[in-house]
Amino acid sequence: MTETAIEVTALEHFFGDGEARKQALFDVNLAVARGSLTVLMGPSGSGKTTLLTLMGCLREVHAGSVRLLDRELFQSDEISRIDMRRRLGFIFQAHNLHDSLTARQNVMMGLQVHGRGDPKRHALAADHLLDLLGLGQRLDYLPGNLSGGQKQRVAIARALASNPDIIFADEPTAALDKVSGLAAVRLFKDLGRARGTTTVMVTHDPRILDLADRVVTLEDGRIVEDRAGTARNNASTAPA
Ligand SMILES: Nc1ncnc2c1ncn2[C@@H]1O[C@H](COP(=O)(O)OP(=O)(O)O)[C@@H](O)[C@H]1O
Ligand SMILES: [Mg+2]
Repeated sequence: MTETAIEVTALEHFFGDGEARKQALFDVNLAVARGSLTVLMGPSGSGKTTLLTLMGCLREVHAGSVRLLDRELFQSDEISRIDMRRRLGFIFQAHNLHDSLTARQNVMMGLQVHGRGDPKRHALAADHLLDLLGLGQRLDYLPGNLSGGQKQRVAIARALASNPDIIFADEPTAALDKVSGLAAVRLFKDLGRARGTTTVMVTHDPRILDLADRVVTLEDGRIVEDRAGTARNNASTAPA
């Protein structure tokens, strides 16, 4: 595997047809290193979610190139996109938990969509992740009995459960308080270091920039700034 997890070249995107046709992305170029944490910033409507969903195989690439884990997404077929999505984890603003399943069962869903493994191991893995996210006391709670921030952390645990190569997160910490938001992002970073997981995250939270390897700013569908983050590479974030 190369050290570049995602390579975007001359990417454009349009919504609508005819009169209503509107360009959402203009000549976007971006290379994301394997194991890194990249933050996407920019005002509302600047194209952050569009870019994230194109890189995440959730939308078809119509113009330009996206190479994801060494595979080209432009003109790829639906089968290979589905295959690719199995290697990705998604955390979106709407956390989409199953209301009738407990926190543990929701996280287990993230493991079971990938088949294999026995349920007992899945349950242990789910409990471990929930514990890391500070929900060790809430394993058997239904989403209806969890706060917004707790639900968001269950969604984060579910996305991490399948050990994805790349995590795409759209404002994953918006519903979290300061402490649990930073804890969640530290967990992404630790995974990056331990497993080589790559994370691309949309956030408006300035505190998270301190953990980012790279900060990319979009405006009106264009990258207007691309700079190194202020992360200190040698700072260990793992608990002692
Ligand atoms: N499904 C859609 N249909 C039409 N226009 C869209 C759609 N999704 C996004 N857009 C437009 O594309 C632009 C970028 O949107 P988006 O990527 O959601 O921005 P951000 O996530 O930065 O707020 C906006 O002008 C938005 O109105
Ligand atoms: Mg958005």
